[in-house]
Amino acid sequence: MNSKNTILVTGGAGYIGSHTIIELLGTSDFKVVSVDNFSNSSAKTFERIEKITEKKVTNYRIDLCNKTDLEQIFETEKNIIGIIHFAAFKAVGESVLHPHKYYYNNINSLLNILECCLKFNIPNFIFSSSCSVYGNISKLPVKEDTPFGKAESPYAYTKQVGEEMIKDYTIAFPQLHTIALRYFNPVGSHITGLIGESPLNKANNLVPIITQTAIGKIKQMTVFGNDYPTRDGTCIRDYIHVTDIAIAHIKALMYLMEKKNKSNFSIFNLGTGEGVSVLEAISAFEKTSGEKLNYIIGDKRPGDVGAIYSDTEKSEKELGWKPRFSLDEMMETAWKWELEQSKKN
Ligand code: UD1
Repeated sequence: MNSKNTILVTGGAGYIGSHTIIELLGTSDFKVVSVDNFSNSSAKTFERIEKITEKKVTNYRIDLCNKTDLEQIFETEKNIIGIIHFAAFKAVGESVLHPHKYYYNNINSLLNILECCLKFNIPNFIFSSSCSVYGNISKLPVKEDTPFGKAESPYAYTKQVGEEMIKDYTIAFPQLHTIALRYFNPVGSHITGLIGESPLNKANNLVPIITQTAIGKIKQMTVFGNDYPTRDGTCIRDYIHVTDIAIAHIKALMYLMEKKNKSNFSIFNLGTGEGVSVLEAISAFEKTSGEKLNYIIGDKRPGDVGAIYSDTEKSEKELGWKPRFSLDEMMETAWKWELEQSKKN
């Protein structure tokens, strides 16, 4: 292994960060260091990563909004050649109620990291963005060159601003090579069932809510609206397995390291291209788990878009990335992880 190839992963104990670390370590090309203050994750995730990969990951428990602490990591870790920046708050509803929390954390942390990229000559940077930057879009599937729509939440706005900040940095500092990966709806868990989505705070996303309802942590779940102009009236989303998302980060990193990028700021959608309704997701879960889900149809959730799914051509052609996991496998692995968690509690 080239000792130079250290990748700094922010939010390494988080849902997508932890799965990406496993894939990075699986390639044996990279050494990984993580920054995570466990604000919505647990240190136990690193024990589980170690169990799966048989490799140890150093985690720096600092707040990315503290620039002095962050700079200290770059003083210590001399061989960082790339950063994958996952760490951010991501609950859409909470961001509407507490905009300061989102603007302060998501923007300041990104600004500090970009400054460190310059100060410590880090050439490669990958940013976790989101399909929420497209807003409420009517032309589907959505392509990367679609202009930003109106951000439906402060969370979505932090992703739009984040992308703009990165783009401006690459114009001013062309030595910086960056990619924004726009995730659609990452779900499922590692095939071992040993890690998955485990927010310390209340679950907000559909699949953890489905599995928590099935296991009895949540008594009954609500399908948010059934009068959208879709085939069964419920919202349509592009669910994508978290390991497929993780693999896309390795492809993106290699794309930059092999200098295949045509621009210093590239954007890729990460989705399967398949739109799935809430009721179809529930039915896939019921089929694969054998569990009957207790749900009711309720009111629409404020800020929800009716339907969104990805155009996948650019990621496939340029990154050479194609998702492999089916909807059934997403549900199967999510359920496996829920059962694993219930063993521990
Ligand atoms: C949103 C963002 C996504 C972001 C993610 C982070 C959009 C279009 N997408 O995803 O970019 O990364 O938040 O959290 O803004 N649902 C129910 N009942 C529930 C929970 C969810 O019916 O109890 C439905 C929702 O109405 C939605 C679908 O399930 O139609 C998926 O919801 P969720 O998992 O929260 O993700 P998004 O809101 O699509």
